[in-house]
Amino acid sequence: MIETIQEHIAEVEKFTATSIDAVEAFRIKYLGKKGILNDFFAEFKNVPNEEKKAFGQAVNELKNSATEKVNALKDALESKDEEKGRFGDLTRPATPLELGSRHPISIVRNQIIDIFSRIGFNVSEGPEIEDDWHNFTALNLPEYHPARDMQDTFFVQTDPDILLRTHTSSVQVRYMENNQPPIRTISPGRVYRNEAISARSHCFFHQVEGLYIDKGVSFADLKQTLQYFTTEMFGKSRIRLRPSYFPFTEPSAEVDVYWGLETETDYKMTKGTGWLEIMGCGMVDPNVLENCGIDSKTYSGFAFGMGIDRIALLLHQISDIRMLSENDLRFLEQFKSAL
Ligand code: PHE
Repeated sequence: MIETIQEHIAEVEKFTATSIDAVEAFRIKYLGKKGILNDFFAEFKNVPNEEKKAFGQAVNELKNSATEKVNALKDALESKDEEKGRFGDLTRPATPLELGSRHPISIVRNQIIDIFSRIGFNVSEGPEIEDDWHNFTALNLPEYHPARDMQDTFFVQTDPDILLRTHTSSVQVRYMENNQPPIRTISPGRVYRNEAISARSHCFFHQVEGLYIDKGVSFADLKQTLQYFTTEMFGKSRIRLRPSYFPFTEPSAEVDVYWGLETETDYKMTKGTGWLEIMGCGMVDPNVLENCGIDSKTYSGFAFGMGIDRIALLLHQISDIRMLSENDLRFLEQFKSAL
């Protein structure tokens, strides 16, 4: 009997565990109600008197070593768990960094800037709160000119001279006032018009306007530049210029690009014509050049202007312009893969 107990003691000494559960199973096996030790204690009364002392000592030794073992293993494993709690599981891979995305307006604006910078245009900017001169008068739109109604204007407070710019042509006026030709510049920026907000139009939106002034600039140069742009931007080289009117250009035209009628979307977007209007343009009116301090006898130039929002809606198949200013992450996150 005592030999059996010695064997158990040896087994207890050897035992190790890597989990709390295994230690608990070990404890139940030896120290539990129906465990080995209780069996030995129950056996005690059957042990002959002369052996009782040795038997009792052996059983106590087994009990002590089992108890010590359980406590030691538990301590070791629990302190390991504490470490884990403090530092986390150091073997886990790190949380991936979330990449942000560019706004579709920025994506399209950058594409346009990129295309024109390749043919020598620089970027110019100006204030969004403008005065009457830069937004209207210098652009051949004197006070009471009926064409002022083409762009419903927000005035700042009660001063009719200070307004939110209705187009970025105001930046071109500033640029001409401060630079002599040759001028090749594009002006991207936000503009404001007092219009009812709907899926198609907003009271603020974004434009890129271009200006090219030098000796001998002709309408053919304008058309060639626009064709280069539509080819690079949309992969479409077929354009047409329809006569139009802007006070600051003469002659003036609307530019349509042939989108095609291959898919149902083409059909819808172009209302069944295949043509899509994308911008206004024209030869800068000599009056405008003179207003800005440029000699109209020596120099001529062209200008064009387009809406970035409309192009973004078109290229990314967005159905409502209001989405561009709602800052809804579910919408914005969809542009992660674009530029
Ligand atoms: N400024 C015009 C607009 O906002 C666009 C334009 C710019 C037209 C340059 C012709 C030339 O509607």
